[in-house]
Amino acid sequence: METTLFEKYIKNTERTDPIKCVGKITKVQGLLIESHGPQAIIGEICRIIAPKGAGIIRAEVVGLRNETVQLMAYDETDGIEIGDKVIALGSRLEVAVSDKLLGRVLDAFGNPIDEKGDVSSACMYPALANAPDPLKRKRITERITTGVRAIDGLLAAGKGQRLGIFSGSGVGKSTLLGMIARNTTADVNVVALIGERGREVNDFIEKDLGKEGLARSVIVVTPGNAPPLSRLRGAYVATAIAEYFRDQGKDVMLLFDSVTRFARAMGEIGIAAGEPPAKRGLPPRTFDSMQKLLERSGTSDKGSITGFYTILVDGDDMDEPVADTVRGILDGHIILSRDLAEKYHYPAIDVLQSISRLSNDVSGYVTKEAAGIIRRNMAVYAKNEKLINVGAYHHGSNAEIDKAIEKHQEIEQFLIQNIDEPSTLEETLNIMSDITGIEIPEEEMTDNNEKLAVAASQFRKKEIKFKSKEKESEVFAENSAMALNSVASLFSNLG
Ligand SMILES: Nc1ncnc2c1ncn2[C@@H]1O[C@H](COP(=O)(O)OP(=O)(O)OP(=O)(O)O)[C@@H](O)[C@H]1O
Ligand SMILES: [Mg+2]
Repeated sequence: METTLFEKYIKNTERTDPIKCVGKITKVQGLLIESHGPQAIIGEICRIIAPKGAGIIRAEVVGLRNETVQLMAYDETDGIEIGDKVIALGSRLEVAVSDKLLGRVLDAFGNPIDEKGDVSSACMYPALANAPDPLKRKRITERITTGVRAIDGLLAAGKGQRLGIFSGSGVGKSTLLGMIARNTTADVNVVALIGERGREVNDFIEKDLGKEGLARSVIVVTPGNAPPLSRLRGAYVATAIAEYFRDQGKDVMLLFDSVTRFARAMGEIGIAAGEPPAKRGLPPRTFDSMQKLLERSGTSDKGSITGFYTILVDGDDMDEPVADTVRGILDGHIILSRDLAEKYHYPAIDVLQSISRLSNDVSGYVTKEAAGIIRRNMAVYAKNEKLINVGAYHHGSNAEIDKAIEKHQEIEQFLIQNIDEPSTLEETLNIMSDITGIEIPEEEMTDNNEKLAVAASQFRKKEIKFKSKEKESEVFAENSAMALNSVASLFSNLG
């Protein structure tokens, strides 16, 4: 009995740190702040008491050298003076998580900035965490619907898949994320607006997300004018919130805008801390951090985080280092084309350049055939577009090209979609069925993988059904067997 009593006190005493760790500012140079003490660990949160500045400035320990502590601030550093006190808080960055976060807008610390009340919680998640154990990750076998026809139909994504949205500036990355957030079938959206323009935040919430979208979303905002550490930590906090919902068994959609700004923030910090720049002015650690951050989404043994990450590609150069690194890490890329945007073809997804590495695993057998036929028509049209446009192609010279021209308009209409025009999986697949003439069975119009598996096994016993005999000859210009073979090889190449 007595031991239990004592144990309680011993534990409490062990947890308490009786020495307040205080240091003094010795140097402030650009982003980097140095102090003599306090005793702290890397990543520990400190408070700088700056009576002549903002009062309290939040900072994080980024380096240690003998008695010197190197700090970087989350807030503006104006008004810090030599000799100002630095207090170590004894913990690394954590975020309060609970279902109260739904419908809320938060800053880089996970504190609300929307004046809708408190979100405190007894449950705290570390902002910096490791990715789930690779052996415990569930395989990705179920489809997630984004509500965007070009994606759901031709670039099917799985629950827990991570895709990049790449384009130059102003081609529609953020708008596409908004469309997905509003229309997806995911349980929860976590939207990370990292380093983007401040004015876009309200636009995103009111225009793109709308009321119904916001109700099941958590938004973390660190605008471009926030200090780089704040931008960086916003990315980690958003990911930690997504991890919390995944741990609750939910299918989470993490919409991240943008990885490029995250990398730039990382670069600014690295250079301020004296790291040598490597690729395009970014220190090597940037690429390592990017990899760690992106690995945290995906499936775990409990739920899934499907990640859509936007990447700004300078001058549409897909080989620039950030784009190249991200492409290597993710399970697919969606490329937005300026040419399409200029033609007011929105969302400006360049389907033939884009790829979802898991679409084969998550879509039904007949759906894949239909998608293959549409892609093939698009490829034939794209290859001959110049000839067709200058009138150098004569109808009847090639049955395949004739078919591609005939189907072109219908396919364009399928791909063009208004921001506020949701499309359920059933609607998307029905249009594909109309375009190709192939009957897509109802069992395939589902996110549910078990139903898909049943549909696939049933399919093998049957043949593909066409809506009518005329449709059959319409779809396969020459020889249906040949066309199907080429579709199969197209898919195996893509896979
Ligand atoms: N689906 C759409 N429908 C109509 N217009 C669109 C659509 N998508 C984008 N636009 C137009 O393109 C503009 C830029 O879009 P958006 O801000 O989404 O691009 P971005 O790629 O995120 O740009 P940045 O790289 O500067 O962040 C919008 O203001 C809008 O005029
Ligand atoms: Mg944008």
